[in-house]
Amino acid sequence: MLPKPAHLGPKYGAQFSDQSVADAYPMRPPYPTQIIETLAELAVDEPRNVLELGCGTGDITRFLAPHVHHIDALDPSAAMLHKARSLSNGLASNIHWIFQTAEDFDYARTYSLILAAESLHWMAWDVIFPRIRQALSPNGRLAIVLSRELSPVPWMPTLSPLLGEYSTNREFQSYDLIEELTLRDLFQPDARIQTPPQAWSQPVADYIESFHSRNGFSRERMGDRARAFDEQVAAMVAPYVEDGRLHFQLSGELVWGRPRAL
Ligand SMILES: C[S@@+](CC[C@H](N)C(=O)[O-])C[C@H]1O[C@@H](n2cnc3c(N)ncnc32)[C@H](O)[C@@H]1O
Repeated sequence: MLPKPAHLGPKYGAQFSDQSVADAYPMRPPYPTQIIETLAELAVDEPRNVLELGCGTGDITRFLAPHVHHIDALDPSAAMLHKARSLSNGLASNIHWIFQTAEDFDYARTYSLILAAESLHWMAWDVIFPRIRQALSPNGRLAIVLSRELSPVPWMPTLSPLLGEYSTNREFQSYDLIEELTLRDLFQPDARIQTPPQAWSQPVADYIESFHSRNGFSRERMGDRARAFDEQVAAMVAPYVEDGRLHFQLSGELVWGRPRAL
């Protein structure tokens, strides 16, 4: 099989084990409600057991849990799982948090929905796709949440080069996950939705901190450069701050289908 792009290698995926990344993670925008509702509708076979691969702080799992029977939510970052338990609904009795990689998990149950949200790119696709396929129920689906995204902001033309300059992931290149999976004949998408934009705002300090939840922007790895980065982002957004907050339009993108037989 074609090798994965280098910037999606395990050494970069491991950055989510940094404490600073887990601490900054709740500053990311939430997933739009329609993403959670659609995921709930996709789990049709009973019992409605769900597996989330790379669940992080549970931004999907914690909100999906009330709608399904059981969720196995796995992640190899102890810091992210610890944070997940401390957040709203993190102690729900039908969530089973699992400290493991998607590659090492045993896939012993049958699931009516297996999902990965902003995380599948970190996994060894050749290892996990056959296992996902075997663990899905007859009408089971693999759902890939591609993004929760803020609509283009006026400071983007100055922010983009700054992100390139400061990222500690020097191999980063833009890519299309679904294209990469299709190219390797791993996944057959059945449907794709983009949720309509909804208004969302956050304090400017939280917006700046949210960058440190991203791969390549861990405070531990940026060291002293983090402060210079923060100051430049603060200057960039200053003209747009209203009452200490920045205002955005938020949307999400979701694809679902079946893994292909290899
Ligand atoms: C950007 S976060 C997404 C977290 C969560 N799904 C969300 O949408 O907020 C990516 C997550 O993938 C996890 N991850 C990285 N490599 C992984 C692997 N091999 N198996 C499972 N999860 C992995 C990271 O620890 C991290 O929590």
